[in-house]
Amino acid sequence: MVSPQENIILVGFMGTGKSSLGRLIAKKTGRHFVDTDQLIVANQGREISQIFKENGEEYFRQIETSTLGSLKPFSGLVIATGGGIVTRPENIPLLRAQGFVVWLQAEEEEIFKRVSRNSKRPLLQTENPRKTISDLLDTRRPLYEAVCHFSLDTTHLSHKQAAEAVISEEIGRHSVQLGSE
Ligand code: S3P
Repeated sequence: MVSPQENIILVGFMGTGKSSLGRLIAKKTGRHFVDTDQLIVANQGREISQIFKENGEEYFRQIETSTLGSLKPFSGLVIATGGGIVTRPENIPLLRAQGFVVWLQAEEEEIFKRVSRNSKRPLLQTENPRKTISDLLDTRRPLYEAVCHFSLDTTHLSHKQAAEAVISEEIGRHSVQLGSE
């Protein structure tokens, strides 16, 4: 019997390539791609920035948690998450229980460059987005580190190289588990 593929869950700061890389990993491994932000937008019928504006961040975090929880019954997914998903303690066991958690990293300067290309992200609509990124990264780094099974710095990698690194790590994990039985 072929066992169902485990989920691959991508966590990491805004601009680290979770969605684009997630799509590529899904395509290469025959998994389905889902993005918690996209699910929220589809279910709410409005943009993330609008949800923040109309209901605040705490409301968004509640929906984010229930969206993550709603994926619990599924396997064979690549799940891209929003950058702040690790800030709610109750999401940590949910993430760990639902699959292979990969922390995508990128150097701070590179993140700044990537996120400056669009102004959609509500948390970065501040007077000094560069400092906001730096402060948020300081708070979140230990959270990403604690939740992940594997981390990858994508700063100098192509999407293809990064996807292949994640895939081979995920496959390797099973051979280690089988080998140690
Ligand atoms: C957020 C990241 C965003 C989105 C929301 C909040 C954050 O997702 O969930 O704007 O707190 O870092 P991306 O990481 O996909 O940009």
